Amino acid sequence: MGLKRKILELHKKREEVLKGGGDKAIEKQAAMGKMTARERIISLCDPDSFHEYDLFVEHEARDFDMDKKILHGDGVIIGTGTIYGKPVCIFAQDFTVAGGSLGLMHARKITKIMDHALKMKVPLIGINDSGGARIQEGVNSLAGYGEIFFRNTLSSGVIPQISVILGPCAGGAVYSPALTDFVFVVDKISKMFITGPEVIRTVLGEEISMEDLGGARVHSEITGNAHFFSKSEIECFDQIKKLVSFIPRNNMGKAKKFAPKEPRPEYRISDIVPGDPKQPYDVRDVIRAIADDSDFFEIQELWAANIVIGFGRMNGDTIGFVANQPLVLAGVLDVDSSDKAARFIRYCNAFNIPIITLVDLPGYLPGIDQEHAGVIRHGAKVLYAYSEATVPKMTVILRKAYGGGYIAMSSRHLRADFVFAWPTAEIAVMGPEGAANIIFRKEIMSAEDPEKMRKQKVKEYKEKFANPYVAAARGYVDSVIEPEETRKLLLHAIELSVNKSVFLPQKKHGIPPF
Ligand code: HXC
Repeated sequence: MGLKRKILELHKKREEVLKGGGDKAIEKQAAMGKMTARERIISLCDPDSFHEYDLFVEHEARDFDMDKKILHGDGVIIGTGTIYGKPVCIFAQDFTVAGGSLGLMHARKITKIMDHALKMKVPLIGINDSGGARIQEGVNSLAGYGEIFFRNTLSSGVIPQISVILGPCAGGAVYSPALTDFVFVVDKISKMFITGPEVIRTVLGEEISMEDLGGARVHSEITGNAHFFSKSEIECFDQIKKLVSFIPRNNMGKAKKFAPKEPRPEYRISDIVPGDPKQPYDVRDVIRAIADDSDFFEIQELWAANIVIGFGRMNGDTIGFVANQPLVLAGVLDVDSSDKAARFIRYCNAFNIPIITLVDLPGYLPGIDQEHAGVIRHGAKVLYAYSEATVPKMTVILRKAYGGGYIAMSSRHLRADFVFAWPTAEIAVMGPEGAANIIFRKEIMSAEDPEKMRKQKVKEYKEKFANPYVAAARGYVDSVIEPEETRKLLLHAIELSVNKSVFLPQKKHGIPPF
């Protein structure tokens, strides 16, 4: 056969595989408002940058008449491409082929691209659309998942791992995403659950829809499994591209530097925080008043909104922002917000991203619900994450910094490199009302006019402790600054920290309160 004919043969073979699960299955996919696996990859990568591997891989299963089935590419596409010129490894499960279910060869394709990503030290993006372990392949499917989970763990903290949930992902198909750094979901399309409605009906006799069980909103607002929520697949891919622009390729490098830009004039830092400590405000506006071009890319916006996390840039370099949100529950730390912050701090630390922390919180959330939900264990994660982090840590205390909240939110004692406080800062063991009621209880109760005495004692306490100067006098706060000076000082602190190095005791790894 001449070269021309061989090339024609190759084209024919390719065309055959590119049909995926066939026209009917593709129509069904489109009817659900879903792109095909290949369309997704092409939308996500830079034009003409994607190169596919293992196109001709076929399954090897023989039981349950599987030997009679042709599963093109075994239901998954793998390859490499670029996003904003940055190389990435990708896999996308093809639901049109056996529901994207994971058999032995399907798993081998995924682990091949995972190994490649780790070896080449480039980000891995997994587009998940799968019914989970392929039932007909039995333990081979389970083995496949085990191999994926192991690699997810091995790669954790070395290369960024991004998961996109674009279909009903069940069983093993959700545990791999749970081990990765960022999970993207799309309204109405994404579903994540360990056991589906069918199993729930059989075992528990309960009827529940996939949406209520594990839809995009459930995981964005209630469970916190998802980090980014969007209304369409295209919007989701734009979010992924933006995330990729903020993060480094691997743990040995830094994120790409962008041209520095001043914050936009509409965010006037002195006008955002009200003087009255009881009045709320949106802390994201403070971040926008500090960050380059007022651009703040928020993560897990819809979950545990009492803390805000996300990326911005300072002088063109990526920065992780962690900030209490006085708009929600007065910005307290609780079980979920502690988990949210701690994981993000560890991400920034693993990938050499300096952290700016903005503090305004009355402490940890009191109450039996929180205590029984394990606020001690979860809250300790924040202490652990900040203490462990060796990236540059800059803290700005805006208003309240009470009790455990003061210590936890990147205080000097957990080795913040720079701690600034605004003149409105109140650094104390607890709020003036609570404190006065406890330490002056006898005086208040025995006074002729207890209410008057209480007010007087609250005032006394406020004057003595509810300010930044006691902490500044001990050097716990480096500088009491005007809000307008914040960006300038932070930029200086970041520049100064470029070569920061810390000596730590040798250990295999710590034991954080997971
Ligand atoms: C084999 C599967 C499959 C699976 C779907 N299919 N899931 N084949 N193994 N796990 C096949 C279907 O038979 C069907 O094939 C095609 O994919 C499309 O599926 P439908 O059911 O028609 O689609 P839909 O109605 O959209 O429902 C999607 C679904 C449902 C919700 C995902 O298929 C489902 O519930 N599947 C099982 C989910 C599950 O329980 N997985 C857990 C596996 S155990 P045809 O030929 O008819 O087109 C597991 C353990 C790992 O994952 C644990 C690790 C910790």
